[in-house]
Amino acid sequence: MKLAIAAIERLRNTRLIGANLVYVPEVDSTQSLARHEAELGASEGTIVIAEAQTAGRGRFGRRWVSPAGVNLYFTVVLRPDADRLRRLSIITPLAVVRAVRIVTGLEAKIKWPNDVLIGDKKLAGILIETVMAGDTVDFALLGIGVNVNLDVATYPEIASIATSLRTELGHEISRELLLLALFKELEQLYLETSAKSALDEWRSLLVTLGHEVKATTGNRVEEGVAEDVDASGDLILRRTNGSRVIIAAGDVTLRQ
Ligand code: BTN
Repeated sequence: MKLAIAAIERLRNTRLIGANLVYVPEVDSTQSLARHEAELGASEGTIVIAEAQTAGRGRFGRRWVSPAGVNLYFTVVLRPDADRLRRLSIITPLAVVRAVRIVTGLEAKIKWPNDVLIGDKKLAGILIETVMAGDTVDFALLGIGVNVNLDVATYPEIASIATSLRTELGHEISRELLLLALFKELEQLYLETSAKSALDEWRSLLVTLGHEVKATTGNRVEEGVAEDVDASGDLILRRTNGSRVIIAAGDVTLRQ
């Protein structure tokens, strides 16, 4: 089944996110098409959504499995100030967790900084790309992929590490309703002026805290206990020798 774009446009109750919707049946990556749209002047909140991606991109150059008709793959064009830009990595996974809860009742969690998990399996991924114009942000591309009705067992490369809402619930979920809930939650969090409550909520959902982790940041690897996050959302790691290191960006694996 194709996404019911007309229904999404009719039921959308946001003023920014999704007000301009670009739908394509297939694209290499919604990030590339959204970049093109943004360069042509697409307004803030424009959504580029595809039924399928032939070269869906994950973080660290990984591939994002993107077959047609089962999942959500979309990119939001944003034109944030520096403050809002810093918060994207916090508010986006939070919006996904809230939308999943509203539509399905499932309680997803977050692996720092922005992987959305159910149990220890990945449900959704977020890719944030920023394009600068000199010292200021020209635009940001917020890429979101959610495994909605994917039968993960049919994709051996992710079968042991990924899940989908259908896998968890045993029945299909409306991609349209989930998308509409995502628009709403994203808009609310993006427009919020105080960052404190979102940070607290995001922090309370992190599965990473209190665990032994291995953090890869650039070409450096740090190991230790993930003690906390600071006010910017950076990860505070306690090394075995007792010293502390702040990790601003990177990938984290939980050590069992
Ligand atoms: C990750 O967890 O590694 C991030 C995955 C991001 C996937 C989404 S799907 C929509 C958008 N287009 C892409 O090519 N990637 C993002």
